[in-house]
Amino acid sequence: MSAISFLKSLDVFSSLSTPSFDRLGALVRARTYAAGDAIIRRGEPGDAMYIIHRGAVRIPILDPAGREKFVAALGPGDFFGEMSLMTGDPRSADVIADGPTDCLIIDKEIFQGLTRQHPGVSKFLTQILARRLSESDVMSSKTVGKYRLLGEIARGGMGIVYSGMQTSLNRTVAIKMLSHELSLDEEFGKRFRLEAQIIAALNHEHIVKVFDTESAYATIFIVMEYVEGTPLSKSVETAGHLTWDMCRRIIVQTASALQYAHERGIVHRDIKPGNIIITPEGNAKLMDFGIARVVTEQTENEEVIGTAEFMSPEQVRGKGVDGRADIYSLGIMAYKMTTGRCPFEDADPYVILKRHLRDPIAPPKDLDPKIPADLNAFILKAVEKDPARRYQSCSEIVKELSQRSSSTAPLSRTLRMLAVACPADQEAKVEALLKQAREQVVKLPGVSAAIQSLPGL
Ligand SMILES: Nc1ncnc2c1ncn2[C@@H]1O[C@H](COP(=O)(O)OP(=O)(O)O)[C@@H](O)[C@H]1O
Ligand SMILES: [Mg+2]
Repeated sequence: MSAISFLKSLDVFSSLSTPSFDRLGALVRARTYAAGDAIIRRGEPGDAMYIIHRGAVRIPILDPAGREKFVAALGPGDFFGEMSLMTGDPRSADVIADGPTDCLIIDKEIFQGLTRQHPGVSKFLTQILARRLSESDVMSSKTVGKYRLLGEIARGGMGIVYSGMQTSLNRTVAIKMLSHELSLDEEFGKRFRLEAQIIAALNHEHIVKVFDTESAYATIFIVMEYVEGTPLSKSVETAGHLTWDMCRRIIVQTASALQYAHERGIVHRDIKPGNIIITPEGNAKLMDFGIARVVTEQTENEEVIGTAEFMSPEQVRGKGVDGRADIYSLGIMAYKMTTGRCPFEDADPYVILKRHLRDPIAPPKDLDPKIPADLNAFILKAVEKDPARRYQSCSEIVKELSQRSSSTAPLSRTLRMLAVACPADQEAKVEALLKQAREQVVKLPGVSAAIQSLPGL
């Protein structure tokens, strides 16, 4: 097998698109070592990654005292020295050729030059890193900044999500490791750095809180509040239709989160069911602010865009967007929640993108006459192709759908009130209990409730 087709057959490189793989393949060099040659030495600066093509190597693993613990043996298809492409750390072990050994080598400097131009090439690094991090002996001791990684939760389009522990506070967190393809994209990095502080300052009951970011292994780790629950994408796929009240509730809560963000100049850019977690209490939590992919490589037909189904026409055109782009995506999401499908579906994302630009969207009511008029009307107005014809702000959506949802049944004339006075040291507890009671009560269809604090008696 030629070196290139050998490389292509390896698992970690299979994530690369054909153009990315070809670019990488062009810079790989081959070198043969004789038995006993030290391919790399402990303590040396790392300047290349090696993939074994033919032959075998051994790696004596030392304990902290420097005694040999065991010897790892690697063969064809295995790789070593890959950390040098991600960190500036010196080599941690010797690697010795066991017999005549052919290696394929990716030099760090050349690789870094290439990824500056074409971040997509670095996709395999994320694969390798994830594999290394999931090796149990490594995982248990892996830290990223102040956080200890506990285990992998899920893999998404933009990275891998781990559960983690903030040891200083003994609190569980979720840590998203961004794909290198994103973090090495200059445009993305610029925007992310600009927005990271604003995103971390977002504090809203329907937004997943971002605590911190850390840089490690040549990528960005986003440390977040750990949210128990199910992604909305799961409920729309499996449970079939949500109740209409649940649909309204999710739309209203997401719209209120967006309203809050838009007021602070943050556009989400990637509103879709996969970015909303529904908690066991039935509340929506929106995540992934500011990490939507900048679709720069679209025209090269290189990377498939994950969420074409939800993308507004102005995003497809690559124009500057404002909050109204999120409103369009929210409309498409509501379409999916009510009808079970997106207005435009196709195996080829580019077909979907074109249809967002040109094709009218059929009223959801045409697909299912049982869809309530207010939801149907909301969707049609939200997915107008011209942003000027949509809702101009999310507060309009919140107002409209909360009004309609309570107007579907006549309200009883009885308002119920509970007044509580308490010693100052009980205030926090009382507040929490009332909040719990409110959360339970508003789960009932059509019921709303408010907690109001009055000046002392
Ligand atoms: N803060 C969090 N708390 C708990 N689980 C999370 C959190 N963030 C993400 N997840 C889980 O990880 C999955 C993948 O994350 P997601 O953000 O959807 O990936 P991507 O945006 O990269 O496609 C989610 O569906 C969810 O199950
Ligand atoms: Mg996401």
